[in-house]
Amino acid sequence: MGVVDEIKERLDIVDVIGAYVPLQRAGRYYRALCPFHAEKTPSFYVFPDSQRWHCFGACGEGGDIFTFVMKREGWDFAAALEELARRAGVVLRPRTLEQTRVDEENARLQAAVAETARYYHHLLLHAPEAARAREYLARRGLSSETILRFQLGYSLPAWDALRAHLTGRGFTPAELVRAGLLVEREDGSTYDRFRDRLMIPIRDPHGTTVGFGARTLETEGVPKYINSPQTPLFDKGRLLFGLDMARDAIRREECVVVVEGYMDVMQAHQAGFGNVVAQMGTALTETQVRLLKRYTRRLILALDPDAAGVQATLRGLEVAREAMDRELTPVFNPRGLVGFERRLGAEIRVLTLPSGSDPDDLIRQDPARWPLLVRESLPVVEFVLQQLLRQTDLEDAKGRARVVEAMIPLLRDVGDPVERETYAQKVARALRVDARTVLSRLHEAERQAAQRTPIPAGPARVPKETPVADLEGYCLATLLRQPWLLGAVNRTLEEWDIPPLGPGDFNDPACRAAFAAWEGLLMGGAADPARLREQLPEAVVLRLDSLPEPPSDLSDEQWLREGVQAVLRLRERNLRRTKAELRALTEESPPSEADRYGQALEENARALLRVQQALYNRCWASSSLWIEELSEGEAR
Ligand code: UTP
Ligand code: MN
Repeated sequence: MGVVDEIKERLDIVDVIGAYVPLQRAGRYYRALCPFHAEKTPSFYVFPDSQRWHCFGACGEGGDIFTFVMKREGWDFAAALEELARRAGVVLRPRTLEQTRVDEENARLQAAVAETARYYHHLLLHAPEAARAREYLARRGLSSETILRFQLGYSLPAWDALRAHLTGRGFTPAELVRAGLLVEREDGSTYDRFRDRLMIPIRDPHGTTVGFGARTLETEGVPKYINSPQTPLFDKGRLLFGLDMARDAIRREECVVVVEGYMDVMQAHQAGFGNVVAQMGTALTETQVRLLKRYTRRLILALDPDAAGVQATLRGLEVAREAMDRELTPVFNPRGLVGFERRLGAEIRVLTLPSGSDPDDLIRQDPARWPLLVRESLPVVEFVLQQLLRQTDLEDAKGRARVVEAMIPLLRDVGDPVERETYAQKVARALRVDARTVLSRLHEAERQAAQRTPIPAGPARVPKETPVADLEGYCLATLLRQPWLLGAVNRTLEEWDIPPLGPGDFNDPACRAAFAAWEGLLMGGAADPARLREQLPEAVVLRLDSLPEPPSDLSDEQWLREGVQAVLRLRERNLRRTKAELRALTEESPPSEADRYGQALEENARALLRVQQALYNRCWASSSLWIEELSEGEAR
């Protein structure tokens, strides 16, 4: 038995979930208000028999203890595995010597950074030298409660105050250099990196302090902020300032607002807008979007459209990032954002700030305006169109043509074909040109792109039949054999109006983790099974080693068939399971409540029908799979 199964055997889902949400017994099931969306009547169920949970309300999601804690805590699979193993008293494979060494080193660096934050905070509150910093904060309207919650601090105007404080507590200068707290001179001597600055601790999503932003109290002549350098703990592109404190509000509000700066976040939280985080002065990265997507898929970016960085991007200036001065940092990358929407299933909107103001000013002056701006936010494509229109003389045919040309690549990046056409029509209407002109430009661009993607081809051959007991494993094994396959399978599903395969389709946590990591590698354009293994915890690698073998030497066309077939079977099993759960609920509930599940049952039936039609569509009839797991889906 693998560790995952062992953990599932030892922990009861009712206890695990019950520790987060008050569960109410309802017949053989438990129910609660869904912890993942706001609702008034409970539609979140826990099934002790199958050890699964399911929300039949707005989220429509379900899973086991692993998915639950991953979603609830925002953990990745490795973190969930570690924590649930601890709770279950299951010993994971011992770490290698090297891993243990790295863990210990990181723990030391973390301790050093934590002590530094305490020390700076103490100085801000009590040191006579910090008087100016305290006045500064008062002038900026930050309350003592905010200072406490964000653990703001102050670094003394000395070259060795922090070093003396921390070496006195047993940390070595070398460790402090690695933690980004000291700077090393060429001769090997060291000095405090942060001096006479307001110190803002930056925490990871779990609230562990990993670095600092340090604001000068001067008005000119020095860089406004100095941040921690890249360290084993601090990686700017993987962090968002304020996320640790914003998690609950993001879930509650079902959206997150991303602003540019530290001050914006602190002011927003102080005013009661808790779902605000900051990207710390750089364009939003894919890692950050993934991080946020653990809490919500709706992201809103707060942009000053007149800021130089936004204007430069809109004009399409290709300026090397390093060569730009701070003012031109590209905080806004529309094509990148539309790409995230498509690939990650996020929904990204832009909140337009009044010219020249940032959320900090705005919220201080008129807090009531903030929710209005949030509500008026626009999809990225529409925001870009509006901005381009503002800069264009609509009487000038050349100007209108330039807007069309600028919009085409962005429209092409839109994933949903219907949405794409709708936007194209919007562009045409706004420019007062014939919609067909824009659409034909768009289709031409799409045709050109399609010619560059190879279409799987090969002689038809009927492969031998493969009985499969481990459907999930088979599905995963097949997809891992060809890097192009997942994309091609999803495109086929899309044609049938069936949602793409996602980690949630896998019930086995190890398969799910492997699939999610594979998706990540595919997006990075570096998918190969060896790399996949490197990224995954031991327990998952062991599962990978025991996957069923898909047939070898298939043609591309056969691979696609095999993949589509396996994925459809998996989807069918999942839908049947949900159907069984819903049926059981209908039977158990009093007649007054029974029709609450009616709609869910109908949706389930429609989805199931689509999948079954696709499965029995003659196109796929000659595929090799027959699956023994079907009855298992019914039984659970
Ligand atoms: P801002 O200049 O908007 O800073 O830069 P801010 O947070 O609003 O600060 P105030 O209101 O001027 O005091 C936005 C973010 O860009 C990063 C910081 O993360 C900052 O919060 N930044 C800015 C730097 O890293 N270095 C700089 O020199 C300036
Ligand atoms: Mn500001």
